[in-house]
Amino acid sequence: MTLDELDALMKARFSCRAYRPDPVPRQTIEAIVDTARRAPSWCNAQPWQLTITSGAETAAFRTALRQQAMSGAHDPDLTFPASYPGVYGDRRRTCGWQLYDAVGVKKGDREASARQAMRNFDLFDAPHCAIVSSPAELGAYGALDCGGFVTAFCLAAEAAGVATIPQAAVASFAPFLHSYFGIPEDRLILCAISFGHADMSDPANSFRTDRAPVGDIVEWRG
Ligand SMILES: Cc1cc2nc3c(=O)[nH]c(=O)nc-3n(C[C@H](O)[C@H](O)[C@H](O)COP(=O)(O)O)c2cc1C
Repeated sequence: MTLDELDALMKARFSCRAYRPDPVPRQTIEAIVDTARRAPSWCNAQPWQLTITSGAETAAFRTALRQQAMSGAHDPDLTFPASYPGVYGDRRRTCGWQLYDAVGVKKGDREASARQAMRNFDLFDAPHCAIVSSPAELGAYGALDCGGFVTAFCLAAEAAGVATIPQAAVASFAPFLHSYFGIPEDRLILCAISFGHADMSDPANSFRTDRAPVGDIVEWRG
């Protein structure tokens, strides 16, 4: 693969927030995981573990998660950022407004923005969801390794014609997820990845986020 081809794949991927109901064949999901597992990790520890739902299991999980989201307090295993200062807050607001503009949420309409946020807990109607966890003992580096795995998963999926979205929002209900899926307490639940075939007619999928230029993210020495 050339760099141009990889660049095209990177640019084709986006966080998909509306899905068609048709499932991804098990063989394709396995092929995506088979590729993503080549992600590097410190000491080749490969700390990632996935719980992947399909069919009726996704439907039941969606119902239970939505109930949890309406009634439960947020309690993530990995503390969420307390704030997004400066440029990070600017970027966060920009991508938030891109989504709101796309789906028609007006400034100040808290009800509509809350409704859109709740779509996280419908898994954006995706037919599959992967819960990503890492051993607590591996700490931040386990999470770092898993971040690379999540990116590899999303890119492999894109190459297979499968749309994805990583979701920290789902991990905010960690105690519920541990108990629902029987994920041991000594593993940190990091995020979910909802995936399936994109519904490209849905306005939620009509925008693309920007990136800071290379000059803003590299300090060249020599
Ligand atoms: C670790 C991680 C967690 C994320 N959590 C959420 C989430 O809970 N809900 C959501 O709508 N998007 C979530 N996203 C998607 C980001 O908003 C998205 O990647 C970012 O805005 C860049 O847009 P793009 O993925 O379309 O290129 C998450 C992305 C990552 C990498």
